Amino acid sequence: MRRAAIFTAAALLSFAACKSTSSPTDTTDDTADTPDAGGFTCADVGISKGPWAIALTETGITIRWEACRTGTDAGVIVTGPDGKANTVMSTETVFVVNNTYGAPLAPNTPKDWAGTYYMHEAKLTGLAPSTCYTYVLAADASTGSRFCTARTAGDPFRFLVIGDTNPTLGTHTTQVLSHVLPYAPDFTLHGGDIQYYESTLETWAAWFPLMAPLLRRAGAFQAAIGNHELEKPDEYAQYTLRFFGGAGADEGDGYYRFSSGGITFLSINTQDPVTPNSTQGQWLLMELIAAEKTPGFRASVVFFHKPFLTCGDTGDDLTAEAAWAPVFVQHKVPLVFQAHMHGYERFEKDGVTWVTSAGGGGNIVLPNMNVSRAYCDTRKAAGDYYNASIIDVDATGFHGKTLDTEGTIRDTFTTPIPQ
Ligand SMILES: [Fe+2]
Repeated sequence: MRRAAIFTAAALLSFAACKSTSSPTDTTDDTADTPDAGGFTCADVGISKGPWAIALTETGITIRWEACRTGTDAGVIVTGPDGKANTVMSTETVFVVNNTYGAPLAPNTPKDWAGTYYMHEAKLTGLAPSTCYTYVLAADASTGSRFCTARTAGDPFRFLVIGDTNPTLGTHTTQVLSHVLPYAPDFTLHGGDIQYYESTLETWAAWFPLMAPLLRRAGAFQAAIGNHELEKPDEYAQYTLRFFGGAGADEGDGYYRFSSGGITFLSINTQDPVTPNSTQGQWLLMELIAAEKTPGFRASVVFFHKPFLTCGDTGDDLTAEAAWAPVFVQHKVPLVFQAHMHGYERFEKDGVTWVTSAGGGGNIVLPNMNVSRAYCDTRKAAGDYYNASIIDVDATGFHGKTLDTEGTIRDTFTTPIPQ
């Protein structure tokens, strides 16, 4: 079920820049919903989505946002721990959205209107490693946010893991975030299924304001590709890649890597084949080997959407697990994050910790539906609750805790860094 071949968000933006322009208007709506009264309104500040950060490195990061009119850029004001502020201008690129999508069961939900938008990207360089900064768009004083650069190899750090976020479906996403964001993670691993048109309640226009606490407080948003990134024929290209593509280095079609503190993080795309002889399978093996040769390397973490191991209501992929688990052990991947099965699971199997982090807001399902699978005796924790996890990394290992909507810690684990 796939779209075009490999292309990056940058390529996508330059392609869009060649198209003709018009204002965001109600053109077509294949969702058969009720039209909004008044249609699209571009607020005075002209910022329609964001900002958010992606692609952290030790000395740089990318800040993106969407504007609904041209010429809004007055830059990003970035302030370091020394209190010194610098303004970095962005590049504005025209992007044409071809279709209007709404939320059929929530007529008051703002639509994703067809029309012309203006993507802004500020590439911050020359930053200090292991440092957290604040930033705000000069055009909109309400956009105060933070990010952290990647840590120098060996430094301790903290990150957030969440998956399957459907923030319009009740208050579960907001509740979970209220308990994990105070931990001030350096960055976020999102396991995919970022937004859910198919919940019939959600659009990207509704998603962004509800997810703003995470986007503003949890550092760079490093996402894997889930099946709900392809709910509409053009969603992957028009939204997912436009917003979150370009999140790392050596990027392919939905797969990439980044590093912090001597840990290499590798996201693979389970919408495409993941066998070792597939394109991204060959890429993953090459990257795992290369990571081990990096000065200061401690371990690698792999994250993706559809689980290789699960005892819940969705399918597993034992072929992939059998192929990759020995590779992960050989190349120092002690920890894997997966998503898709709405709930929580943690397996300790053959030297690898597998965490299913998929309780970010989509309807919770049944984590025990397939508990008769032979390997389910390796599952050490599971539950049908909304959740996100905070992972602290230090010299000895990964120390995780998983919190629910009440802030209750439902699971803790330590995964040692391989010696
Ligand atoms: Fe999914």
